[in-house]
Amino acid sequence: MTLNQLVSYKLNLKIMKLLVIGGTGKTGRELIIQGLAQGHVVTAVVRKPDKIKYSHPNLYVEKGDVLIHENLERVMKGQDAVLSALGHKRFFIPTNILSKGTQNIINAMNNYNVKRFICITSLGVNDSRFKLGLYYTLFTIPVILFFYFLDKSKQEKLIMNSDLGWTIVRPGQLTNGKKRTNYKHGLSVGSYVLTKMISRASVAHFILNQLDDETYIRKTPGITN
Ligand SMILES: NC(=O)c1ccc[n+]([C@@H]2O[C@H](COP(=O)([O-])OP(=O)(O)OC[C@H]3O[C@@H](n4cnc5c(N)ncnc54)[C@H](OP(=O)(O)O)[C@@H]3O)[C@@H](O)[C@H]2O)c1
Repeated sequence: MTLNQLVSYKLNLKIMKLLVIGGTGKTGRELIIQGLAQGHVVTAVVRKPDKIKYSHPNLYVEKGDVLIHENLERVMKGQDAVLSALGHKRFFIPTNILSKGTQNIINAMNNYNVKRFICITSLGVNDSRFKLGLYYTLFTIPVILFFYFLDKSKQEKLIMNSDLGWTIVRPGQLTNGKKRTNYKHGLSVGSYVLTKMISRASVAHFILNQLDDETYIRKTPGITN
């Protein structure tokens, strides 16, 4: 047992086996580092393992692409929860990376009876439409992120239609700022006028808190400063 696991054990926190998707990304990295610090055992499925420049006795890095179903099947067995920070920058062409990748995640979870899925999408998607502020509503989403948000919308619907214990986490605009714990979260978070921010580190903190909290099971909380 590592020191972190011993501390978690003493504090009566449940140590889990977590599968992190998007671990080479900025939010995924926070999920891994904060998850390990809480004593969890983390497996990261990444396309380029060399991009993970740190190691830890409880960190397993597996090469894999979410678009290849077998890559997820291979790592799903025995996991307690899946945390997804999947994203990409192919904004100007129609893509199905988020929806297809997420369908593959859901299928593999069903096949291995893994129930808890926490996935980052964004404020502004589906019934949170317009809640990323006027600038995003009138310019960024229709002009730059149109296809990306279309795919995010499909991604959310796939998750909502699954039988999993899912939570869709919808952040405001992401920053690389420090982790805060006094952020706002909930179903009415966001603004129709201003673009609210939140650091990736705070989003990861919120997601890890959901592992032993049922408040947002099958719900879509927003999160902003
Ligand atoms: N930027 C914002 O202001 C904002 C606001 C709200 C929500 N969000 C959402 O928050 C999420 C996280 O954002 P972020 O900035 O942390 O993302 P990011 O740094 O772009 O990371 C995205 C991750 O997804 C991985 N990925 C992409 N395609 C993959 C595939 N086919 N198979 C496996 N992994 C794949 C990337 O891997 P590689 O390293 O191999 O590319 C990377 O690890 C995204 O969904 C984003 O849309 C962003």
